[in-house]
Amino acid sequence: MARLNDNYCKLKAGYLFPEIARRVNAFCEADPDGKARLIRCGIGDVTEPLPPAAIAALHAAADELATRDTFRGYGPEQGYPFLRAAIAQNDYRDRGIEIADDEIFVSDGSKCDCANILDILGDQNHFAIPDPVYPVYADTNVMAGHTGAAAPDGAFAGLTYLAGNAENGFVPPPPTTGKIDVAYLCFPNNPTGAVATRAQLAEWVAYALANDVLLLFDAAYEAYIQDPTLPRSIYEIEGARRCAIEFRSFSKNGGFTGVRCAFTVVPKELTATTADGTRLPLHGLWLRRMTTKFNGTAYIVQRAAEALYTPQGKAQVAALVAHYTGNAAILRQAAATAGLRVFGGENAPYIWASAPDGLSSWEFFDKMLTDANVVITPGSGFGRAGEGWFRISAFNSRKNATEVARRLADLLKTNAG
Ligand code: MLT
Repeated sequence: MARLNDNYCKLKAGYLFPEIARRVNAFCEADPDGKARLIRCGIGDVTEPLPPAAIAALHAAADELATRDTFRGYGPEQGYPFLRAAIAQNDYRDRGIEIADDEIFVSDGSKCDCANILDILGDQNHFAIPDPVYPVYADTNVMAGHTGAAAPDGAFAGLTYLAGNAENGFVPPPPTTGKIDVAYLCFPNNPTGAVATRAQLAEWVAYALANDVLLLFDAAYEAYIQDPTLPRSIYEIEGARRCAIEFRSFSKNGGFTGVRCAFTVVPKELTATTADGTRLPLHGLWLRRMTTKFNGTAYIVQRAAEALYTPQGKAQVAALVAHYTGNAAILRQAAATAGLRVFGGENAPYIWASAPDGLSSWEFFDKMLTDANVVITPGSGFGRAGEGWFRISAFNSRKNATEVARRLADLLKTNAG
């Protein structure tokens, strides 16, 4: 008799985005007019076409597969050398950060990498997770058996939650009590759009080095940082090569959510201990994991990602990011003008705002859906500390972003009146 993984039974009924989809589908069935007006600002999925440089590279790479001489079968599991070199050079060395080509591991997504990284970490580790945060960090730890059951408020026994709130600007500091071994950080943050300053990130790195903590730094939204004083990579901080793994993605800069390409950086001097206390590099373990469990990202996709680093590709990515950043400014302004407390939207594609009139996150989600026909994301779906907040995604057309700003203003005016 096959026994299932009981840990899955501890998870809340649905992952956040499927639950949103369920409610939206029910609404659309019940209200066809509302369905016709519906604008989706829930999941952070890009809407604009791929950069032309990526399209051209996809076509050219597909043509290579059409002849025996240039055909490619299995590629290197950790990524083709051409893409690893382009990433290490453009994203790191050109910015004064020493990262070698073979410290870059190309994959099909940061979500997968953030989850799969648990394969090379011991189950004895004590994990710390920001709250609110991208639900994948908590849920994958539950699946791996690192937690007890969920409390009624949704918090899992065995995880340390790092509370973000308006007072700390949704940048939780390192814990002052209790021992942790691994901490997730995400800046620019999903969902709050908060970005750690250089000093705040330096505090985390100093804490990690002093307490032998591994930092899992998710920088999927780094392209949205406009303020040049803010760090875009954790490796901008001295000592981070000895305590941090960084996750990056082409989803939100190159619009690759459907194309699928990302990478993880594992510096060679980063170590963790074996049961007998010997320190071993994590780089070799991650390479072993990739070569055993993964057959690499598609060749044509890696060529498309490489094209984002050409001069034309860089200009097109910048234009795409500027488009979504423009939407974010419009949405942020609308929420602030309506009197809501607002975070994010300046160095991130997400606007994080307080629900009006003491409504809960899901109550305001339902109100936006039924009264304004706009899908948002309830803050409580990202953790306890998100209750009373909501997230608007700026990934949309300009027309839709402007219309959502108008409807939000109207709804809150109606509410006040
Ligand atoms: C989100 O909406 O939070 C993101 O799209 C999720 C993701 O990138 O997987």
